[in-house]
Amino acid sequence: MTRRKYVVGNWKMNGLKSALGEARSIFAAADAHPGVDVALCPPFTLIGAMAATAPGKAVGGQDCHSAASGAFTGSVAAPMLADAGASLVIVGHSERREGFGERDADIRAKAQAALAAGLSVILCVGEPQGVRESGGAIAYVLAQVEGSVPDSFDPQRFAIAYEPIWAIGTGLVPTVADVAAMHGAIRGALRERFGDAAESIRILYGGSVNGDNAAELLGAGDVDGALVGGASLTAAKFVPIIAAAAGL
Ligand code: PGA
Repeated sequence: MTRRKYVVGNWKMNGLKSALGEARSIFAAADAHPGVDVALCPPFTLIGAMAATAPGKAVGGQDCHSAASGAFTGSVAAPMLADAGASLVIVGHSERREGFGERDADIRAKAQAALAAGLSVILCVGEPQGVRESGGAIAYVLAQVEGSVPDSFDPQRFAIAYEPIWAIGTGLVPTVADVAAMHGAIRGALRERFGDAAESIRILYGGSVNGDNAAELLGAGDVDGALVGGASLTAAKFVPIIAAAAGL
């Protein structure tokens, strides 16, 4: 089973209209690597403009509500993302889990809403530092997978991102052996639950990925790509990661 490499930029709460040129440069450079799927997830406010300025490219949201519409001031529903031109959405990022109190059940509901709206999903999991240090990282992450991954979906439209919280934005990265062990454990859990369909689900690594470490991290067993924060904001930093994925 060959899974296409997938490199996704998460711009978080960064980017004004003046950043759209950077997105165009990233997508243009990605055209040189047709074997890699590339997506950018800008803030909600840029989705429509980015999708319009980069037709046919994968633009996504960073979160969505679990309801399709309603009295939820400040929230954005999955059908709204699709309507704005998004083709994917990230759910369950640790900055949502930790900062906004999102639990596995909430994230599962968001993933289901996104799939129902026709979006692809990247569902994030990952352990805090204390859990890693106490040796419980794999059990912790597998419990997140069990609790937040929906029961049925098209595996081509579903990816998991393993992002150890202590590696996000810190410059710290796990060893390649630890990444491979975690991804292998996630794949095993998916296989138990979904059988052969698990082979089509891409598992991305995220947390301080950059142009220097991408080849090593993305070359680890069961790593199908990267979810990139800081290094996705400019073409200069992001394109080398895409190129590294293309070289694997
Ligand atoms: P980082 O963020 O690449 O800046 O560490 C990754 C993420 O939070 O998705």
